[in-house]
Amino acid sequence: MEDKLVAKIKRRIQSGNDIDTPCYVYDRQKILKNIAILKKNFTDIARLYFAVKANTNLTILKLIKDQGIGAEVVSPGEIFICKKAGFKGNEILYNNVARKSEEIYYALKSGVEFFNFESINQAILLEQVAKEMGKCIKVFVRINPGIFPETHPHLSTGSTKSKFGIKMEELSEVLRIIKKFRYAKLVGIHSHIGSQILSPEPFIKASRKVVEAIEFFKKNRIKIDFVNLGGGFGVPYRPEEKDLDFSPIVDCYRQMKQRYNLEVLLEPGRFFVANGGYILTRLIDKKMRNHLPVYMIDAGMTENPRPALYDAYHHIEPLFKYKGRRLKVRVTGPLCENADEFGVFNLPELKIGDYLLIHNSGAYTRTMASTYNGRPLPQEYLIDGGIKLIRKKQSLKELIANE
Ligand SMILES: Cc1ncc(COP(=O)(O)O)c(C=O)c1O
Repeated sequence: MEDKLVAKIKRRIQSGNDIDTPCYVYDRQKILKNIAILKKNFTDIARLYFAVKANTNLTILKLIKDQGIGAEVVSPGEIFICKKAGFKGNEILYNNVARKSEEIYYALKSGVEFFNFESINQAILLEQVAKEMGKCIKVFVRINPGIFPETHPHLSTGSTKSKFGIKMEELSEVLRIIKKFRYAKLVGIHSHIGSQILSPEPFIKASRKVVEAIEFFKKNRIKIDFVNLGGGFGVPYRPEEKDLDFSPIVDCYRQMKQRYNLEVLLEPGRFFVANGGYILTRLIDKKMRNHLPVYMIDAGMTENPRPALYDAYHHIEPLFKYKGRRLKVRVTGPLCENADEFGVFNLPELKIGDYLLIHNSGAYTRTMASTYNGRPLPQEYLIDGGIKLIRKKQSLKELIANE
């Protein structure tokens, strides 16, 4: 059966109502379905927070918030956006590998109560700023569990080489300093081992390290009430990839929760929105290179930098069905960069002007987009009953705003 979103876009184009490309198109029903999957798996086990770095569109944030989900942020900018979307300060987790004191002030003024820290210096800074502001905050120590999940090295944040988290050997130093704190109360252990992980094992391995940390503090008479087990749930990007099997993860988290009487928090980003978004694009040129046809489309690394950054595969299909055999073609964007390539795909013979959809473009695309080559950020649509414009295209004037 044809995807409802695809059918709606086709109908709009066929009715003579062109859509300016490239643009982002989100599917409300798919995002709701993803939320339902997470809720079904983790109800009674974990509180869900959306890692908003995946998608900061206000309409998308409101949609997620209205489903009772909190927000995980990494900057005052994301706090500002989340507050605009209606999240309250106490529904926001503020994580980051390193912050400046003014960023902590901003968060405290915004009513944020949960913070992580990933170094001794950062823990001390949290205590100092909280003291100056006279506010008590709840802090999580992010551990580096020393795990390398099978994902792109740039997406692996739990290996010993990565800059993230505190080494297990440093926990005794954490213990020494937090005992002196009066404003920043250590309540939890945080772990996030990376992104786009499609097998349950790395999550289970990481939770063993979290348990080690809980036991360490318990032995030293510090009760851990919370664990934040991060995000990282992968989604199939390639047609042959399988869905992540949540059940071993769910069992493991349930056992941990019951054994230590914990509040479990999770902060996935990609899983909420990746397959709920597409980039609609058009073929703008064709040429031959090394005996391979090159299809140049009007979307590139400015709208989706993931292939250039992580060698990410994003499935590409024409919007309309075409008869005839498919051929191997290289798909590239139009930017002045060799890295502006989406890869080699089996596509039908297309004409200049034909529409294509880049799949799985709901996460880490618009939030990572840039105006490189003087390209304004494109408009975004939400598809539900109809096609609704939810953010206008940036104007040329906005390219020089603030200058
Ligand atoms: C600390 C932290 N939590 C959660 C996430 C969300 O990860 P994902 O989108 O893979 O679920 C990230 C992503 O980088 C992160 O750094």
